[in-house]
Amino acid sequence: MSMPQRVSSLILATVLCTTVGLVVITAAQEEDRASLSPAQARRAATLIMARCAVCHTTDLISQQRLPADRWTVTVEKMVHWGAELSKDDTALVLRYLIIRNHPGAPDDLPTIEQELAMSEPTPNQSVAASDGPLTGLPARGAGLYAHNCQACHGEGAAGGVGPTLARNLILKNEGAFWETVLHGRGPMPAWGAVLSHQDIADIHAWLATR
Ligand code: HEC
Ligand code: HEC
Repeated sequence: MSMPQRVSSLILATVLCTTVGLVVITAAQEEDRASLSPAQARRAATLIMARCAVCHTTDLISQQRLPADRWTVTVEKMVHWGAELSKDDTALVLRYLIIRNHPGAPDDLPTIEQELAMSEPTPNQSVAASDGPLTGLPARGAGLYAHNCQACHGEGAAGGVGPTLARNLILKNEGAFWETVLHGRGPMPAWGAVLSHQDIADIHAWLATR
C-alpha cells in the first residue's frame, strides 16, 4: 500500500521540479530577451556569419531549436573545434542563440542573413571611411587577416572559398573595398560590427603589400 503512494509522490515531486525549472528558464530567457539590444543582436549575427559560417552554412545553426543548456554545450563544442571567438563574443553569440532559437521558436524564423539585412547598421559603422583617411599598419594587418579572412581568402590572400585578394584591383578602389568589407556581399560576411575602421585599414595595408 505504501509503495504506490511513494511512487506517486515521487512523480508529483518530479513534475513540480520540472515545472519550477521551466519557469526559471523562461524567466531567464525573458530577461535575456530584454537585455539584448539591437546593436548586440546585430553584432552576434555578424559574428555567426564571420566565425561560424567558415565551416558550415548558417542554416545548420538557424534550423535548430535548442534549450539553453544544449546551446551552451554546442557553442562550447564549436569553439573547441575552432570557432574563433573571444570569451565575451562567445557569451554574446550564446545569448543570441538561446533567445532566438529556443524550443518554442516558430518554424519560419528569418535566416540569420535576412535578420542582418533587415537590422539597422549602427550609425558610426554605416559610412565607409568617413573618419577620413586612416594610416594602415601592414604588420598589424597580417595578424588580423590571418584571424578573420584567411579561412576563406587563403594563405597569402591567394584565394580559397573567397576570391584572391592579392593584387586584386578592388584594393585600388577603396570605396568598393570598404563597402564590401563593412557591409558584406553575397556569401561574404559584413565586418562593420566586428572590426574597427583601423583594423580594416590595417588589413587593406597588408593586402596592398601582397
Ligand atoms: C572549425 C569548423 C566549425 C566552426 C568554426 C563551427 N562549426 Fe558548427 N559544426 C562543425 C561540424 C564539423 C559540425 C558537424 C556537422 C554535421 O554534423 O554534419 C557542426 C555542427 C554544428 C551544429 C549542429 C548540431 C551539432 O552539434 O552537430 C550547430 C548547431 C553548430 N555547428 C553551430 C555552430 C556555431 C553556433 C558556430 C559558431 C560559434 C559554429 N558551429 C562554428 C564545425 C564547425
Ligand atoms: C566566410 C568566408 C569569408 C570570410 C571569412 C571573408 N570573406 Fe571576403 N569574400 C568571401 C566571398 C565568398 C567573396 C565573394 C563575394 C561575391 O561573390 O560577391 C568575398 C569577397 C571579398 C572582397 C571583394 C573581392 C572582389 O574581387 O570583389 C573583398 C575585398 C573581401 N572579400 C575582403 C575580405 C576581408 C578583408 C576579410 C576579413 C576581414 C574577408 N573578406 C573575410 C568570403 C569571405
